[in-house]
Amino acid sequence: MLFIESVTGGRCTGSRDDLAHSEGPTVQSVTRIGILISGRGSNMLALVDAVDAGRIPNAEIALVVSDKPEAAGIEHARNRGLKTRIIERRGRSREEHDRETVAALRENGVELVCLAGYMRLLSGYFVEAYRNRILNIHPSLLPLFPGLHPHRQVLEAGVESSGCTVHFVDETLDGGPIIAQRTVPVVAGDTEASLQARILDQEHQLYAEAVELIVNGKIEVVGWRVLRKNHGNDD
Ligand code: GRF
Repeated sequence: MLFIESVTGGRCTGSRDDLAHSEGPTVQSVTRIGILISGRGSNMLALVDAVDAGRIPNAEIALVVSDKPEAAGIEHARNRGLKTRIIERRGRSREEHDRETVAALRENGVELVCLAGYMRLLSGYFVEAYRNRILNIHPSLLPLFPGLHPHRQVLEAGVESSGCTVHFVDETLDGGPIIAQRTVPVVAGDTEASLQARILDQEHQLYAEAVELIVNGKIEVVGWRVLRKNHGNDD
C-alpha cells in the first residue's frame, strides 16, 4: 500500500486516491514501482536487490524504462527478469515523450516512479500525472550542487563534505521536498571518480531506505518538509 499524507498546502498535497489515473487495479496491497534510467543503472539494481531481499516490503518492480537504447542498465534489468521498455525521445517535445512514458507506466499499474540516473527533466504533464509519487536520487547534498557534474562542483567549491539526496520531483532541476540525505566526507586527494564512488555506495543504501519509508506510509509531507510519521507500533 502506498500512502503519502500531506498536512498543509504546498505542492505536495494528495493521498493514494489522487494517484495517477491508473488503468491498473485500484486496490493493491503491493506498491508497483516503475524505475526510469538513462545509463548504467546501479541505483536501479540497488532497488531491485532491496525488493528481492525483503528490505522494501510490500513493493514490486513493475517496469524499468530507459530513454536510451544503449543504457547498460536495461540489459541488467532484463537479466534480472524484469519487464523493460525503451522509450526514446525521437525528436519529440518533452511532453510528447513524457506522455508515452506515463502511458507505459499506467499500463503496468505503476504507482511510484523512481528516477535512477534518468537524465531528463520531467514535463509538467508527467509531474502532474504522478504528483507526489516521483522520486529522484542526486549525488550531492541538495539544494547544494544540483545539475550536471555535482562532484566536480563540490571539489571546485572546496567544501569538506558532500553526500546524496533522495527527494520528491517537481518541474525544476533536482528540486522538490527532500526525503532523506546522507553525508559523505571529501578527503584529501579526492578526484571526481573517487568521490563519486564513495557517494554511490551510500546512494544505493539511501535510495532503498527512502523508498521503504514511502511504500510503507512512514512519512508525511508538510508544505515543503517531509516528516517521519509516529506510528506508535513501528518495529
Ligand atoms: C547516480 O549518481 C545518481 O545519483 C544520479 O545519476 C547517477 C546514476 O548512476 N542521478 P546509476 O545509473 O544509478 O549507476
